[in-house]
Amino acid sequence: MAAYKSAIPTRRFDAVIVGAGGSGMRASLQLAEAGLNVAVLSKVFPTRSHTVAAQGGIGASLGNMAEDNWFWHMFDTVKGGDYLGDQDAIEFMCREAPKVVYELEHFGMPFDRNPDGTIYQRPFGGHTAHFGEKPVQRACAAADRTGHALLHTLYQRNVRARTHFFVEWMALDLIRDADGDVIGVVALEMETGECMILEAKTTVMATGGAGRIFAASTNAFINTGDGMGMAARAGLPLQDMEFWQFHPTGVAGAGVLITEGVRGEGGILINSEGERFMERYAPTLKDLAPRDFVSRSMDQEIKEGRGCGPNKDHVMLDLRHIGADTIAKRLPSILEIGHKFANVDATKEPIPVVPTIHYQMGGIPTNIHGQVVTPTGPEKSAKVVNGLYAIGECACVSVHGANRLGTNSLLDLVVFGRAAGNHIVGSGLKAKENKPLPADAADFAMNRLARLENSTGTETVQGVANDIRATMQKYCGVFRTDEMLNKGVEEIMKLDERRKHVSFKDKSMVFNTARVEALELDNLIETAKATIVSAAARKESRGAHAQDDHPTRDDDNWMKHTLWYSEGNRLDYKPVVTKPLTVDTFKPKPRTF
Ligand code: FUM
Repeated sequence: MAAYKSAIPTRRFDAVIVGAGGSGMRASLQLAEAGLNVAVLSKVFPTRSHTVAAQGGIGASLGNMAEDNWFWHMFDTVKGGDYLGDQDAIEFMCREAPKVVYELEHFGMPFDRNPDGTIYQRPFGGHTAHFGEKPVQRACAAADRTGHALLHTLYQRNVRARTHFFVEWMALDLIRDADGDVIGVVALEMETGECMILEAKTTVMATGGAGRIFAASTNAFINTGDGMGMAARAGLPLQDMEFWQFHPTGVAGAGVLITEGVRGEGGILINSEGERFMERYAPTLKDLAPRDFVSRSMDQEIKEGRGCGPNKDHVMLDLRHIGADTIAKRLPSILEIGHKFANVDATKEPIPVVPTIHYQMGGIPTNIHGQVVTPTGPEKSAKVVNGLYAIGECACVSVHGANRLGTNSLLDLVVFGRAAGNHIVGSGLKAKENKPLPADAADFAMNRLARLENSTGTETVQGVANDIRATMQKYCGVFRTDEMLNKGVEEIMKLDERRKHVSFKDKSMVFNTARVEALELDNLIETAKATIVSAAARKESRGAHAQDDHPTRDDDNWMKHTLWYSEGNRLDYKPVVTKPLTVDTFKPKPRTF
């Protein structure tokens, strides 16, 4: 069946990158500067990608404020991730960090400065010196708009390097040939609804996370798990999807992020009794313990009746003592967010906050070059999927383990975006030919679109999407139990059935956004299934997966990565890489702060 290929225009590139956030644009820059013909697809204008929302900083052991080194950063990352991270990848990332930050500085990124001209670094959750002994200032910051500064810097460099941007284009599905190699994508121009095949010798997934599978999220509305959906439909596994980070300080009721940099600059969390409760839970790091730890402590305070407000359902973030001048200089956006989303003047009143979904630690499995890998054989040795890379939040290298350290997200984007770019250039891609496009290249994507176009179903896209979000919020939150998770699996599987009967031709929706939302729904459901099925199976508590029925970490049985396959809704596992590249392994220890 070659129903569509001849009817669809085709363009040919050396590399196609899906997503124009920090990782996508760092990779495209490396490729375009090497003279490759690169296309970057983005659902939004590049500088509106979700990286723009990152606030507090990018982690690197520059040692500008006090002694620091990459090995302490590595320790914090391994321990912060509750020992599930692959230590080879973590070593690589922490060693590369100073280099990639200086590179950004030389690209023109407007970091805040110390009086001596060096980059300003602030304290952040879980960042310590001497292997946990005391806090260290490691987060390189551009006020509280670090992601904004980073994204604009990368966009400008890409324009200079002549990267081709396809703005408001949505990738629908990967094209794989008979060998299983990835040879491009089918994409939709959102404005016109027209489709195109983008042939590529290499395709790089850089689509970001899927925070919009939850009802309360710090994520942009575009974060619908598109890369995970495409990978799952192409028969690839999704790794460690049970691990979702709740950021401790989302504005209560609004979800908008209040950077951990507030606590880095001295802000504290208080309960309804005015008590700085983190002193009880984490005597050394207090409010700057890792996020999973702080989020659980906040939830505990609320559960025990010490929450604030009429419903006692949040706590307060107090930054009044920091002083109006420092707030204006270091945290200007927080002042604005306080006004707009909580109706408070943060220089005079505390901000109501609650743990809010922020980041997925899992994603498409890759090696440290960003190549997508699938485990094969009883030893689960990795097989590379030719022609396919994944970087950034949609990928699982895995450097974040079961809980990401704050500021390692921006770092992950640039380290692995750059590494993937270097690997692609080093593979001699420029001299290679594009593989021939099979006659049925576009059929899978076009049949999916046709199903939606022709649907006479009575379900609405927003009805099903909202129910997915409510279900995930209810059954897959900060604290989980077997009963909640099993019920959650049942409900999500019912929603998967309902999803098959959606029609986007609601008469009140006249724009192509309706078509795009219907396509996004297919991605939301894959990500939600992967998350809840993986979570229901993991019978331990580790990092962000806190399971009341299995309250301790179980290294004997669960020191392994989960792999979820869409086909058959099936799970498999593979070992954690505990051997770093050059140093000794950090052995699992109890996690206190
Ligand atoms: O709190 C923040 O500024 C978020 C940073 C991060 O997620 O790394």
